[in-house]
Amino acid sequence: MCGIVGYIGNKEALPILIGGLKKLEYRGYDSAGVAILCNNKIETERSSGKIAALENKIKGHSMHGTVGIAHTRWATHGAPTEANAHPHKSYNGKISVVHNGIIENYISIKAKLESEGIKFLSETDTEVIPHLIARFYKGDLKTAVLQALAKLEGAFGIAVICEDEPDVIIGARRGSPLVLGIGEAGEYFLASDVSAIVNYTQKVVYLDDNDVVVAKTSGYELLNLNSQTVQRDVQQVDFDVEAVAKGGFDHFMLKEIFEQPESLRNTMRGRLLLGEGSAKLSGLDSNINELRSIRRIIITACGTSYYAGMVGEYMIEDLAGIPVEVEYASEFRYRNPIIDPGTLVLTISQSGETADTLAALKEAQNKGATVLGICNAVGSSIARASNGGVYLHAGPEIGVASTKAFTSQVTVLAMIALLLGRQRRVSFEDGIEIAKAISDLPNKVEETLKLSDSIREIAKQFASANNFLYLGRHYNYPVAMEGALKLKEISYIHAEGYPAAEMKHGPIALIDANMPVVVVAPKDALFDKILSNVREIKARGGRVIVVTTTDCTTLDDFADYVIHVPQTLSMLMPVLTCVPLQLLAYHMAVLRGNDVDQPRNLAKSVTVE
Ligand code: G6P
Repeated sequence: MCGIVGYIGNKEALPILIGGLKKLEYRGYDSAGVAILCNNKIETERSSGKIAALENKIKGHSMHGTVGIAHTRWATHGAPTEANAHPHKSYNGKISVVHNGIIENYISIKAKLESEGIKFLSETDTEVIPHLIARFYKGDLKTAVLQALAKLEGAFGIAVICEDEPDVIIGARRGSPLVLGIGEAGEYFLASDVSAIVNYTQKVVYLDDNDVVVAKTSGYELLNLNSQTVQRDVQQVDFDVEAVAKGGFDHFMLKEIFEQPESLRNTMRGRLLLGEGSAKLSGLDSNINELRSIRRIIITACGTSYYAGMVGEYMIEDLAGIPVEVEYASEFRYRNPIIDPGTLVLTISQSGETADTLAALKEAQNKGATVLGICNAVGSSIARASNGGVYLHAGPEIGVASTKAFTSQVTVLAMIALLLGRQRRVSFEDGIEIAKAISDLPNKVEETLKLSDSIREIAKQFASANNFLYLGRHYNYPVAMEGALKLKEISYIHAEGYPAAEMKHGPIALIDANMPVVVVAPKDALFDKILSNVREIKARGGRVIVVTTTDCTTLDDFADYVIHVPQTLSMLMPVLTCVPLQLLAYHMAVLRGNDVDQPRNLAKSVTVE
């Protein structure tokens, strides 16, 4: 999604800004732009398409200066054209702004400004911001920005520069992330995501909603939208710069799939109590007594995180006997959900910035719920707004298609289910068995990853397919959904996930030799049922790829391709069965020549509705 980078200091701003934008590429975007203060004049270059296209345009343009702002845009209001790309300038050309988020009342502001004779050059909501600032400007940029922001409804993260004040850059946020980086003497960075600036500094201040930062080479000041000074801690980012590089893999996605043994070890490090058969999650310590008395849980999330939530529902109901509902955050936030005093809300988000999930969290808190967050990005908006929670510690996930975050989310949910279960009906002995099985997962994932080459061979047989069906039952029903999502996201093949038994209520009509079916069928209590499903597909000429467990040879004679993964407890099988489906989607996308890490139309972090 959109990305912001800003710089003020004593170095050339352009390479720093472009370098920062490149670090944000993974978030998804469709145009980019940069503005630099060159001898007190704002010089701007913008381009539709990738950052490389912007760099080409800049080649013929000398853009020297030590203050600037830059942006990658993911179109919301207006097509991804150069005219709609940021930065946007004020009518008098003196003020330049980049913006993430959506200004909800821009139509009325635009109408008023147009009635005053201001001509708009773009279709964006953003363009009202520089015009408003210029309207209010009377020799003090800070005051003008505050006055302009007071007129805005909706969400924003912005960075602003001004020709008449060449030694200042201003940032502000409400509902869209922004971080201030503190560099060497007199050097400051602004970014919507810390990964854009971590190459330059690891000292950062995360802005809260309604914070404004005014940075000059002489120092910075933090205030709120009412112009009162606010204090925010300077934090050290423990971000490993190396970790965001591809590390020898062709794509971030493949690297992240192969990182899963390590990311899972990090997720469970210090949290499993193998001797007590339980888990210790320090982010839940202050809620531990409240957890004893909860009577209902609502899990809310989007995308892959939602499917992890579905696995969590089954695990928590199985182990703790607490009724759980899972709901898309986008539905939850507008549906007037019932939250009684015994209801706990769990939000799940890799990025911690998904707009719908954040809004669902706030809606739940408004209605009195305690909200716990399961996030990967430390210091993210959802993590900070939650009443407690558990970090994944999976490391940065760059590939747009989520992989290692999913397995870590399921693992965190397994530990939460174990903790809640041990508070209720799970025995000491069963707790020990579950904790041990969780701790064995990284080795079993390692084993599963050895299948990558053989899965590539299977992918070759299906690379030209137009449709795919994924089936699973019980714990592997969400895995079927997630497998279908992975294929859609990066191979652009239409795929649907279904609970296997539902096949006969519709999808079976689609089965023929052109509709490959992936069946997730580990040897478990429902194995015989799913075996009948496979027979039904074969009887109709369908081609079947089965993911089953190593101890099971029953399907070898029925299915066209059989992938064997190690066995674990049923509740943990999704951590293993999802891996071949990640690899299948990956290899199919590569074979089809797609941009695996930045699939078309998708964004890593969806920070607008
Ligand atoms: C986008 C991403 C998905 C992700 C979803 C939820 O759609 O492309 O990979 O699952 O957002 O994101 P979150 O960061 O909240 O888990």
